[in-house]
Amino acid sequence: MVQNYSFFILFLVSEVLTLNVKVNVKQGIIIGNEEVTVFDEKKYYAFYGVPYAQAPIGKLRFKDPRPIKKWIKPLEASTEYHGACAQAHIVHKQGQYGFENCLHLNIYTPFLPKHRKEKLKAVIVWIHGYAFTSSFSHIHGPDFLIENDVVVITLTHRLGVFGFLKLNETDSNANMGLKDIVMGLKWIYKNIGQFGGDNNNITVMASGSASTFLSLLLITKHRNIISKVILQSGSIYSASLFQGDSVFEKNKLENEIKKGGFKRLKSVQTNHVIQATRKIYSSNDIVNAQRPLIPFLPTIERESARALIKMNIKQLYKTIENMDLKIPILIGFTSQESITELIPFIHNPYYIKSFETFFRFMVPFSNDCKYRRSSEIYKKISDKIKNQYFRRGISEHSINDLLKFSSDLHKYPIYKFIKSRINLGNKVYVYKFNYVGKFNIAKATSLSGSNMKIKGSAQGDEICYILKCDPQWESYVHLRNNSSDRDRIFIKQISKMWANFAKTGDPTPLHSFSNTKWLPMSLKEDNVFLFDKINKMTNSKPEKRMYTFWNEIYNTFYSTNKCNKLKDEL
Ligand SMILES: *[C@@H]1O[C@H](CO)[C@@H](O)[C@H](O)[C@H]1NC(C)=O
Ligand SMILES: *[C@@H]1O[C@H](CO)[C@@H](O)[C@H](O)[C@H]1NC(C)=O
Ligand SMILES: *[C@@H]1O[C@H](CO)[C@@H](O)[C@H](O)[C@H]1NC(C)=O
Ligand SMILES: *[C@@H]1O[C@H](CO)[C@@H](O)[C@H](O)[C@H]1NC(C)=O
Repeated sequence: MVQNYSFFILFLVSEVLTLNVKVNVKQGIIIGNEEVTVFDEKKYYAFYGVPYAQAPIGKLRFKDPRPIKKWIKPLEASTEYHGACAQAHIVHKQGQYGFENCLHLNIYTPFLPKHRKEKLKAVIVWIHGYAFTSSFSHIHGPDFLIENDVVVITLTHRLGVFGFLKLNETDSNANMGLKDIVMGLKWIYKNIGQFGGDNNNITVMASGSASTFLSLLLITKHRNIISKVILQSGSIYSASLFQGDSVFEKNKLENEIKKGGFKRLKSVQTNHVIQATRKIYSSNDIVNAQRPLIPFLPTIERESARALIKMNIKQLYKTIENMDLKIPILIGFTSQESITELIPFIHNPYYIKSFETFFRFMVPFSNDCKYRRSSEIYKKISDKIKNQYFRRGISEHSINDLLKFSSDLHKYPIYKFIKSRINLGNKVYVYKFNYVGKFNIAKATSLSGSNMKIKGSAQGDEICYILKCDPQWESYVHLRNNSSDRDRIFIKQISKMWANFAKTGDPTPLHSFSNTKWLPMSLKEDNVFLFDKINKMTNSKPEKRMYTFWNEIYNTFYSTNKCNKLKDEL
C-alpha cells in the first residue's frame, strides 16, 4: 500500500517536472515552469525569484547593490516566490513583512525563442509602491498582459530604511532603493532576449510612490534603458520628496536602536530596525512640516561615479522642466486618490469634526516653506483652503470634501508633471480612472466594515484590472467562461491598451479597437481618457481648476521669495 502510494507521488512529481523549461543567461541556467493564463488559458513560462543583484545582507546591508555572480548549479525558479523586501506590516503594527534578501525578478513570457532571428516581444516591467513605505509585486500575475503577447517582469527593490538610510556621510552608498531598480533594469536589458523579450522595447510601469521613484530615474542617464513609461498616480513633484533630513534620521535611528539595547545598526535584527523607523518623526513634526513627512526617502548624493541624484531640488525641477524625455508617456490618476489615507475618518466620521476648531492642512509643494500654526498667515491659508473645499462647513458629513481636498494633494503634482511634458511637446497619454467593479481592491479594503458610500476609485484601484491580483484568483476564475461580464470586458480593454502602449507607444493604435480612440494630450488638445462605466475621451477641466487654485496659493505664500518675505514680516 505504502509503496503504491509513493509510486503515485513519484508519478505526480515527474508529471510536474516535464513542464519545466530552461533558459541560459549570463549567470547560468534558470529553470522555470509552464503556466496558463486565467481567462484564455494561454500558455506561458514563469521564472520566479530570479536574483538580479547580490543579497543585500550581512556586509552589504545599507550598501549600494552589487552585481549578481555566476551560479554553478541551475537556478531553480519554477515555484511561486513570495519575496517582498523588508517593510513594516501594513495591518499588524508590530509586524514585519518581507525579507532583506529580496532583490529578485519574476519573469513571465509567452514564448521562448529557439533561434536568434525570431521576433522578440515588447517587455513591461512592473514596480509597485504605496506611500513610500510599502511595496510588493509578487501577488501581481501577468495573465491579462500575457494574453496580449508581451513579456512581463515584476521587480522588487529595497525601500524605507533598507533602501534609503545614509549611514556614512562620506562614502557613495545612498539611494540604494533607486540603484536596485537601475541594476534590475540593467539585468533585464542584458538578459531578456533569452526570454523572448526585446530590450529595445522596455516599458517600465509603476504605481503610487514607485512612479515617483521611476520619474526620478528618468532624469538620470539610465533612462536610456527605458523606451516608454507608465506612471500610475505618481510623479517627480511629489510633496513628500526631500522633506526629511537624512543626518537627523540616521542619528535618531541610532538612538532608537541604542534605547532598544542594541549596539551596531549593521547587525540589528530586521524587525527591530523596522520598528525603530516608526519613531523617527513625531506627529507634531508632521503637522509642522505641512507635508507628508516620511523618513528614508531619496536624498541628494555627493559627487561620485555611482551617484544617481546629484542636483538639489531646485536644479532637479529646472532640469526636468527643460528635459525632452523623448519617450512616450502614459500617466494618470484615480478619481479619489486618497481613500486609503482616510480610513480612520471613513470608519469614524466624527473625527473630521476636530478640524472644525483648528484646521490643519498640508500643501502639495515640495519646497520647505512652512508657517507656524499660530501665525496669521497660517490662518489666511487655512481660510482659503476652507473656502475652496469646505464651503458647507466641517462636520461629520464632510468626508467627501475631505476626500476631494486630500486627493487634490496627489493630483496637483501629477498634473504639474503632465503640464511640463506637454509644454515640451512630449507624447503624453493621460487617463482618469473612475471605474468601479469587483476588483477595486484598494477601495474595497478601505471601506470594508463601514457603511459609508463613497463614489469613484482609490489610488491603486486600476491594478487588479491590468495585473491578476492573486488574492482575487477565485473571482477571476468565475469570469473565465463569461465573456459578457462587465468586469471581464473592462479587464480585456484596459490590459489591451496597456500592452498596446508597450508595443507601439499608442494605447489604441489603428484597428485595435473598433470605436475607442485615446488621443494624446497636447497644448492644443486637452484630451483625457476616462475609465468609467463607459470609457470615453473627456478633458481636464476639473484638474485645471484645482491646478489654478494651488498655483495661486504657491505664488502668494510658498514660492521661495514670498516665503522669505512673509516670514520676515512675522
Ligand atoms: C565612511 O566612508 C569612508 C570612505 O569610504 C571611510 O573612510 C570611513 O571609514 C567610513 N566611516 C565609517 C564610520 O564607516
Ligand atoms: C518596438 O516594437 C515595435 C512593434 O513590434 C517595433 O515596431 C519597434 O521598432 C520596436 N521599437 C524598438 C525601439 O525596437
Ligand atoms: C469553461 O469552459 C470550458 C470549455 O467549455 C470548460 O472546460 C471549463 O471547465 C469551463 N470553466 C469554468 C470555470 O467554468
Ligand atoms: C455572466 O455575466 C453576466 C453579467 O455580469 C451575468 O448576468 C450572468 O449571470 C453571468 N453568467 C454566468 C453563467 O455566470
